[in-house]
This record gives sequence, C-alpha cells and structure tokens, in this order.
Amino acid sequence: MAHVKYIDADGNSTEIEIEAGESVMSLAVNNMVDGIVGECGGAQACATCHCYLDEKFSQYFNPRSEMEDAMLEAAPERKENSRLSCQLELHDDLPDIEVRLPASQY
Ligand code: FES
Repeated sequence: MAHVKYIDADGNSTEIEIEAGESVMSLAVNNMVDGIVGECGGAQACATCHCYLDEKFSQYFNPRSEMEDAMLEAAPERKENSRLSCQLELHDDLPDIEVRLPASQY
C-alpha cells in the first residue's frame, strides 16, 4: 500500500499508509501528524490544512478550484504549489505521495 509522506518545515518526515476515502488533511489529523490542523474539517473555510504539493504529484489530484484558490489567499507563506490538503482526496490507485508543510498554519 502506498503512503503519504508529510515533511515539515524543518525537514522531519512522517509516513502514513494511504486510506482511500480520506483526504491528505484527514489522514494527517487522524494520525496526529504535526503541522496540519484542519480546523474547519475540510469545508475550505480555514486554510489550516495548507501544504505544498510538488508538481510531479499534481497529476494525481483534482486541480485547485476557485474556492480553494481564494481560501489560500489567507494562508501565510503561500507558494505556486500551495494546496489545501483537505481537497486532496486519497484513493487506492495512488503511488507514494509527498507533501511539504509550512512553518506555521496561522
Ligand atoms: Fe479547513 Fe482545509 S481543513 S480549509
């Protein structure tokens, strides 16, 4: 089974086995991964699930929606590859995925 590797701003990483039906955010929250808060539960209303998704992995997920894009405007340290991890849905056909986390979610 594939994994999501969460890499924090200091380079520390945690790997969690993918569970289909979860999101990159909910998998992190369920497994107490530091660095993803997910305050709104995935409603695109908080941006505390901000992550950076390398372009090589973007093909496996839906593109950023207008709503996601607007919410990311509120995220500190926004970059070109910023995503809301609650919008990155996990399924069984994924390879190993890596996401990087910002230094702060607030
Ligand atoms: Fe709130 Fe993703 S969990 S925007």
